[in-house]
Amino acid sequence: LIQLTPDLPLAGRHVVVTAGGTREALDPVRFITNRSSGKMGYALAQVAREMGATVTLISATTHLPVPTGVTIVPVDSASSLLTAVRTAFDDADILVMAAAVSDYRPTELATQKIKKPAGHGDLMLQLTETPDILKTLAAEKKHQYVVGFAAETQDLLANANRKLTHKKLDLLVANDVSQPGVGFNGDTNQVTLLRPHQQPVTTELASKTAIAKIILETAIADGALN
Ligand code: CTP
Ligand code: CA
Repeated sequence: LIQLTPDLPLAGRHVVVTAGGTREALDPVRFITNRSSGKMGYALAQVAREMGATVTLISATTHLPVPTGVTIVPVDSASSLLTAVRTAFDDADILVMAAAVSDYRPTELATQKIKKPAGHGDLMLQLTETPDILKTLAAEKKHQYVVGFAAETQDLLANANRKLTHKKLDLLVANDVSQPGVGFNGDTNQVTLLRPHQQPVTTELASKTAIAKIILETAIADGALN
């Protein structure tokens, strides 16, 4: 497809976005999750669509409406998210991993509701590490431009730079989630964009829609479509 309008810089392109917090089941009625609302991922999906892309939004459970014109793939656990991302990745031009993936899952999934033992007291729970989806896919990338997120509460730049290098990303979006109005749940965000061998760029505090636009424009300016 030839791009005819500069307003639609992603026309003819496929953008895959993950969003929301995964759920790792413990028994039929309980799971481990996190504070992610999915809003940043949904804003990215909507803005990518408005920029002309074909958009696949792989989403863990959220309370958000699906943006118009976006293909939704519902997922639950980190393992189901990995399967869905793998399926969509081959044909993707840009992958944005905005999902908050649980780093651990209960080692055993109880088939029946776990009961309090007689006499009560503490319950020990054993957890097993989940696959690092972003790292796995980035290691397999060919033409794809891969964007990750980093949620930090301390040493933002050092921690985020380590993730950029270690996971071999093209762009890392770092959030200082200890700041008011930043990261999880709210409608606003402030991020620092890190790319290999380039100076970090910190945005103003802005709507998640405005931040999504900056992220996608940075990816395009960085040669994501080349
Ligand atoms: N991520 C992933 N698979 C996981 C864990 C994280 O794909 N099992 C992705 C997230 O979607 C995000 C990026 O990795 O894009 C960074 O997530 P974050 O939790 O900030 O970093 P971790 O590498 O998990 O390190 P830590 O939680 O120890 O800070
Ligand atoms: Ca993590």
